Amino acid sequence: MLKVENITKIYKKESSFFKKEEDFKALNNVSFELEENKVLSIIGESGSGKTTLAKIICALLPFDDGNVRISNKDISDYTKQELSNTIQMIFQNPYASFNPKLTIGYSLYEAVDENIKNKKEFINEKLALVDMKEDDIFDKYPHQFSGGQRQRIAIARALLKNPKILIADEPFASLDVINQSLIMDIFYKIKEEQKTNIIFITHDISAAFKISDKILILQNGNMVKYGNIADIKQDNNEYIKELINATYLME
Ligand SMILES: Nc1ncnc2c1ncn2[C@@H]1O[C@H](COP(=O)(O)OP(=O)(O)OP(=O)(O)O)[C@@H](O)[C@H]1O
Ligand SMILES: [Mg+2]
Repeated sequence: MLKVENITKIYKKESSFFKKEEDFKALNNVSFELEENKVLSIIGESGSGKTTLAKIICALLPFDDGNVRISNKDISDYTKQELSNTIQMIFQNPYASFNPKLTIGYSLYEAVDENIKNKKEFINEKLALVDMKEDDIFDKYPHQFSGGQRQRIAIARALLKNPKILIADEPFASLDVINQSLIMDIFYKIKEEQKTNIIFITHDISAAFKISDKILILQNGNMVKYGNIADIKQDNNEYIKELINATYLME
């Protein structure tokens, strides 16, 4: 379904007269695969390159080496339109991803494909998946919702494209435990009912254990491990053990 091979990403630092240009390698030779109807989690601490990798997969960011293929076709061969119907990303901060000056109704209508006949019905179908109703939200603005509600609306909006792949960047961050499990249930439902393939990005390995088939662990842009949950739980790598122990301390 999605095949990522040997991705390397270098951020060019801006050089000035006084300071020599210094490049920063954010991803180093990263490879993994997302199989059909499977959930993959990308784990790593802050700055490990998770969001960079997600943006590369969605063709939102250029990269320096490697390739990304979806359904055996290189992402550079997709048109913008084709890509947006294939892969959708829910951003780390869903507040920033909505235009604050537009009503939610407007933002949702704008996201629906031209070819959909009954847009209203289609939007309501997606909103039902995230337990929301049109009447309660259409005339409101993004700031009038809680973080959890905005997250749910952002998920519904991403689903309006019927994407094959959904990437959720830290969808559980800044949510309380109840909202976290609510959002997790919504993703289960999406996986089962919409047959969407899901990539979760999180720093919380215990959340990843609950929902993923495969896990990719990044540290400073390097792959520490790519495997299934049993592989990861048994691994003797010190960094992986630390990640697992840290979540037990938090609970
Ligand atoms: N536009 C940019 N220019 C230069 N460096 C960048 C840029 N964007 C990110 N970086 C650097 O690349 C590294 C990876 O950043 P990235 O946002 O991918 O991390 P992350 O794993 O998503 O972190 P977090 O968990 O905090 O969201 C960081 O060191 C970051 O400072
Ligand atoms: Mg990030």
